[in-house]
Amino acid sequence: MDFFLDSTDLEEIKRLNSLGIIDGLTTNPSLIYKAKTPFEKLIRNICSEINGPVSVETVAEKSSQMVEQGIKLSKMAKNIVVKLPMTWEGVKACVELSKINVHTNVTLCFSAAQAILAAKAGATYVSPFIGRLDDANLDGVELIREIKKVYSNFNYDTKILAASIRTKNHVSQSAIAGADVVTIPTKVFDTLVNHNLTDQGLEIFNSDWKKSGQKIL
Ligand code: G3P
Repeated sequence: MDFFLDSTDLEEIKRLNSLGIIDGLTTNPSLIYKAKTPFEKLIRNICSEINGPVSVETVAEKSSQMVEQGIKLSKMAKNIVVKLPMTWEGVKACVELSKINVHTNVTLCFSAAQAILAAKAGATYVSPFIGRLDDANLDGVELIREIKKVYSNFNYDTKILAASIRTKNHVSQSAIAGADVVTIPTKVFDTLVNHNLTDQGLEIFNSDWKKSGQKIL
């Protein structure tokens, strides 16, 4: 499974990327707004830091404008993936961009039917928003399971990118449900390593090591 960061905070991106286990990154217009940095500079900086796909969203209503924006975005860096909304205009734009080999990510996916549309349109990724489904008292992880089943039934190539991740449990549950990628906010990423028993175990090992009087080298 691939780990993407869901962030536009360059300092945080650099900090976590230095771990050597980040495979890509996603942005959205709300995260761009939060970054308060000129758009092009921000995207270029992120794309040179991250050695993997970086999703950047179009913000047009009509498919023709989405295609224009998508082409422009894809020229900004070779690892750009063009994010398109799950609307009929977004589906049309996805078909056009796929024809010219621009990588795409169909976002704001809340049902298996929508995920089928994304696959039929040739999307590279589909982004089910599992946290927002949970917020609405629905089951976000169940949607990942459904999409995985449908995609395997028909051998669709589109990758399932679990988004709107709120907890480390969302990360593991998405992996179990068959997501290809999980895009993780930096705050949630930081919690992945935590477990009480790890802390307790390490404390005991350290104290026993001290008592042993031994040395490595
Ligand atoms: O990148 C899209 C997605 O991850 C949004 O998450 O927390 O705003 O629902 P959230």
